[in-house]
Amino acid sequence: MRATPALPADDIAEVLIDAAAIQAKVGELGARISADYRGRDLALVSILKGSLPFLADLMRRIEVPLSVDFMEVSSYGATTESSGVVRIVKDIANSVEGRDVLVVEDIVDTGNTLAFVLEHLRSQRPSSVRLCTLLDKPARRVVPIEIDYRGFEIPDRFVVGYGLDFAERYRNLPFIGVLRPEVYRSAM
Ligand code: IMP
Ligand code: MG
Repeated sequence: MRATPALPADDIAEVLIDAAAIQAKVGELGARISADYRGRDLALVSILKGSLPFLADLMRRIEVPLSVDFMEVSSYGATTESSGVVRIVKDIANSVEGRDVLVVEDIVDTGNTLAFVLEHLRSQRPSSVRLCTLLDKPARRVVPIEIDYRGFEIPDRFVVGYGLDFAERYRNLPFIGVLRPEVYRSAM
């Protein structure tokens, strides 16, 4: 097996949000969610695969009973631009009818993905639907999305790490970093 570096730091132009800042923010969000959902019937719905580290950390900072389910949707190929066409790769396994759904997402960019996901979940008659996203890139918004819990607002730059990928790579970085444009330009 050829040795590949665990942290391809050469491809990262800049660390935008370091691991400690992410954990502090996740703690804040968990405390707010715990307070808001006391006595409710919380059903977390995580959007694979980018939100996986965020979900894993956030759920452990939420102190009320909850269930976890997953959806996987696809709108991106190996490019950094959304196609606007969203398709369900995997749907939730359990009914959310009558439950308090909180969608856990890594990033809201154009809003196409979330508009589709939120409408899909609302059609299953949950008691409520809210959205928690770690990152918000408002400069790129095409569809308006109401964000109930927001980790960080970021500028219009393509970021990777802490779940976010480029062509399925970099999800394992413990921080959010800006990818060098040469990396995705040479892949297109
Ligand atoms: P939207 O449909 O344009 O809002 O895009 C949402 C999805 O695009 C996210 O769930 C990510 O998978 C991906 N995405 C958007 N911006 C970035 C980025 O800066 N880095 C990595 N993935 C991104
Ligand atoms: Mg995603």
